[in-house]
Amino acid sequence: MNVITLTELSKIYPGGKKAVDSVNITLSSGEVFGFLGPNGAGKTTTIKLLGGMLTPTQGSCTVFSLDPAKNPEKVHALCGVVTEHAQMYDALTGIQNLIFYGSIYGLTPSESKKRGLELLKQLELYDAKDQKLSAYSTGMRQRLSFARALIHQPKILFLDEPTSGLDPESAQNVHDMIRLLSKENGITVFLCTHQLRYAQEICTRYGLMEKGNLLAEGTLTQLRSKVCSGATMKIKATEIPHELSCYQTPEGILEIPIQSEEEIPKTARRIIESGGNIYHISTVLPSLEDIYFHLTTRKESLK
Ligand SMILES: Nc1ncnc2c1ncn2[C@@H]1O[C@H](COP(=O)(O)OP(=O)(O)OP(=O)(O)O)[C@@H](O)[C@H]1O
Ligand SMILES: [Mg+2]
Repeated sequence: MNVITLTELSKIYPGGKKAVDSVNITLSSGEVFGFLGPNGAGKTTTIKLLGGMLTPTQGSCTVFSLDPAKNPEKVHALCGVVTEHAQMYDALTGIQNLIFYGSIYGLTPSESKKRGLELLKQLELYDAKDQKLSAYSTGMRQRLSFARALIHQPKILFLDEPTSGLDPESAQNVHDMIRLLSKENGITVFLCTHQLRYAQEICTRYGLMEKGNLLAEGTLTQLRSKVCSGATMKIKATEIPHELSCYQTPEGILEIPIQSEEEIPKTARRIIESGGNIYHISTVLPSLEDIYFHLTTRKESLK
């Protein structure tokens, strides 16, 4: 069953801004979908459409076959949302906030407390459970917002820059949790992020947006073959032949773009035949970041 579908989804804001333009995406259970793109690409607008906070101008979207704009309560019961700037109650403690939000989803105070304390432990907030939110740092608030999103054991998580403001250790912790939730609980994750290195570690598939358009979509392997094929061969050697010296970095490493594996022994032979010694050879495939920059700086789409 498709968990999320976007069909020719378009949104034009009242002022005339086309924020999302005929986007088609289908997600199945357990996928961690990285929704990437520069500022203003239309990512948050898409999440708002999927959460029923906005209605499409054209096309449609569904969450477990439900139209979010028509069935917001049913959709919210199935989804957890983390946004960049979490709004909760400053005068309540961490655990009181979770008990309050649990009650909105129909949990009893004792159910919310039990689940809330488990989540606070996982998110390393247990020691701050009885502190008022006004005394939380930005990163602590963000982690509490993550606990709030998970309090009712949702089937889908919409994460809009969930690790913004987190230190590297907390960000890693949240990413590990995302991976675990999808693997062990089958939660589907729709993740908007600018942190491409983390995205590459946890996402199973990607959609790259720019100016409301979905430029490309697929797994990392699919994107590599669609967007930038080939690899980079890295060699540390002495006596680099003159014709290869243009590929040398200031640190003395050769970085040569290659299209096939056959180029590796050929290049190695050329270095050895010219009297050089090779200390290290490796090949590096294009990263998600390489693909992102490749795509967002070219004009045509690769849907
Ligand atoms: N309420 C609004 N009214 C009018 N235009 C809006 C509104 N919200 C967003 N926009 C415009 O829609 C476009 C898409 O915005 P959106 O917030 O979806 O982008 P984004 O991909 O989430 O960007 P970011 O990475 O900065 O969060 C932008 O040009 C933005 O200025
Ligand atoms: Mg946004």
